[in-house]
Amino acid sequence: IKTIGVLTSGGDAPGMNAAIRAIVRTAINSGMKVKGIQRGYAGLLENEIIDMDTKSVSEIMRRGGTILFTARCKEFETPEGQAKGAQILRDNGIEGLIVIGGDGSFKGAQKLAGLGINTIGIPGTIDLDIACTDYTIGFDTAVNTAVAAIDKIKDTSMSHERCSIVEVMGRNAGYIALWCEIANGADGILIPEKGDFNEQDLIDTILSNRQKGKTHHIVINAEGIGHSNRLAKRIEVATGIETRATILGHIQRGGVPTAKDRVYASTMGAYAVDLLKQGATNRVIAYKNGNFIDFDIDEALSMTKGIDEYQFLISRLMVMY
Ligand code: F6P
Repeated sequence: IKTIGVLTSGGDAPGMNAAIRAIVRTAINSGMKVKGIQRGYAGLLENEIIDMDTKSVSEIMRRGGTILFTARCKEFETPEGQAKGAQILRDNGIEGLIVIGGDGSFKGAQKLAGLGINTIGIPGTIDLDIACTDYTIGFDTAVNTAVAAIDKIKDTSMSHERCSIVEVMGRNAGYIALWCEIANGADGILIPEKGDFNEQDLIDTILSNRQKGKTHHIVINAEGIGHSNRLAKRIEVATGIETRATILGHIQRGGVPTAKDRVYASTMGAYAVDLLKQGATNRVIAYKNGNFIDFDIDEALSMTKGIDEYQFLISRLMVMY
């Protein structure tokens, strides 16, 4: 392989730039050329392709977001869009493509592999919702951002002796919420994986903690449950405790990547280039049980994972005051 391409797709995640930097420098060190495809698959279909050199990735590692821009692209979900994308890659001499993103992005890579482009996926999403891997680029930074924000909300909650509902991101997964619940301490957690929660139990916990002398309360609500403002109103009515909702939103996606996100993303970037060098295609990189490994994309996409039940149990036990 003489020329490879790299794109970021789906939601941006802190650490993506570290992966891009590692891809560019590892590939150039191996004598390959690297092209950056801007705006994910949407940019590919518009031929938004730039040459990258070792200097073009200088000083990007400590920046959040992605220097290649990102997008979600409906057209690329169609066979016509995929065929057009494969042709544009061929026209640009790109024989191997590294896709940094989530499951949706890997489906695109899988289709391109079927059309003769060697593809490698790198898991990049703050949601941690990719089944084949215990780590996704951006989760660590996003959790640390959310934990720091909740610490600040706690100051106000404590000063006003309120209850605060904090909604964190995660799409249909509760990993960010679960980590925040354990890292921040809270009176309750609502996550989609345990969608059958009993709201009365939560109210009872808040009331019982208040009776024992606790003067503020935090409830972590995952985006997949949502409706935080309505929940706040119901809790205020049921408990008589002034209750406010805060939706953390996109601050969780941005910011300076943590050391873990920089190092793991760099490792995955270099690993992806090595796989392309070996002639691999239709693979996705994963971090499992302390090791960086790779799976066939078809296999990776067929896997499922849930939250760690022991971790959930710990989060339940910690609500006690
Ligand atoms: O996948 C990352 C994520 O931030 C999810 O947690 C959230 O559901 C979604 O993206 C939000 O997407 P957008 O930025 O397009 O509103």
